[in-house]
Amino acid sequence: MRFTTLSVVLATTPLSLAAPARNGGGHGHHGHKAPGLDDLAKEAGLLYFGTAIDNISLNNTKYLSIAHNTSDFGQITPSNGQKWMYIEPARNVFNYSMGDAIIKPAKKNGQMRRCHTFLWHNQLPDWLTKTNYTKTELIKILENHIKNEATHYKNDCYAWDVVNEAFNDDGTYRKDLWLDTIGPEYIPLAFKFARKYVGRETKLYYNDYGIERVNNKSLAVQAMVQKFLNEDIPIDGVGFQAHFTVGRAPTYDDLRNSMKLFTTKPLELEVALTELDVRIQLPGTEEKLKAQADVYGASVKACMDEEECVGVTVWDFWDPVSWVPDTFPGYGDACLWDKEYKRKPAYFKIAEVLSA
Ligand code: G3I
Repeated sequence: MRFTTLSVVLATTPLSLAAPARNGGGHGHHGHKAPGLDDLAKEAGLLYFGTAIDNISLNNTKYLSIAHNTSDFGQITPSNGQKWMYIEPARNVFNYSMGDAIIKPAKKNGQMRRCHTFLWHNQLPDWLTKTNYTKTELIKILENHIKNEATHYKNDCYAWDVVNEAFNDDGTYRKDLWLDTIGPEYIPLAFKFARKYVGRETKLYYNDYGIERVNNKSLAVQAMVQKFLNEDIPIDGVGFQAHFTVGRAPTYDDLRNSMKLFTTKPLELEVALTELDVRIQLPGTEEKLKAQADVYGASVKACMDEEECVGVTVWDFWDPVSWVPDTFPGYGDACLWDKEYKRKPAYFKIAEVLSA
């Protein structure tokens, strides 16, 4: 269920002010401040519009002034700071400094937090991947990890990505340490542990990419959630990462249909776009930036129009720190702000969609 919190304020805002200024520092006519993406998202009935932040950006004051501008971003997700290799670098030795560096300022600034992630196949410490633990031992290690991290961040997170990317594109389980040693029951175990130790209000999410269409992977996730329901395993939401490419991105209808796999009866979960970005093949041209804007717009609109889609998080907002060029050489410019900190057409497209 979603609530509109700013309707009173914005209902009295003249239409000419509802669209953000295209030039200058975000100020509209008559000295009024144009509403930002989070303002507009809330007005449209979403809980937040948010961004991921990486620890490498924390010494950049210009970057931080945008990240902590609550008009644009009402929610923050650490893109690395809460991952296993940083949080538990040695067995039962916990170090929250990188996670805290993102979570604490966001909390102080009144921004919601999505916490990311308890269990993933990637960014695991060597002590975990280079030892052959028994099944019993690995389950203990998993519970101890979730217990400590969940307790440290108790009530700090609107949601936790409990398990991240457990499926292959064909709908089979991803072969990794967890599957090899524990078997597929590592997934329900992680959710049970999470429910036991996170705050009562915190939502538990399964998070993945490539599920933004009805396909083998999204259907496999749906079947897993159905099994959870049958067996009383706690889960509240499914996160659609939404790492898209111009020319190959899911359409508005694709997204609506895949969201419905989870939001309709009998599952009735909430969903969110958790890591939205739209890469283009470099060099960027005006035409490609326009196509990118259309993908961003259609994605945000799909969430806005789906009653149970609670919000949108972009996987960083500034091109120079995006993960894309490292992973996909030749691709990039995936974010809403360019390297000169100028808002791109995608920013204004999202604002337009949210204002409509
Ligand atoms: O910490 C080291 C640092 O010590 C070193 O100086 C630096 C040099 O390159 O590398 C740093 O580690 C990097 C780390 O990000 C922190 O910035 C790794 O090399 C780099 O591989 C790592 O990339 C992250 C990636 O996950 C790992 O797979 C990205 O920043 C992060 O955005 C990305 O996020 C994932 C989500 O968690 C799950 N969904 C997909 C998404 C994109 O891949």
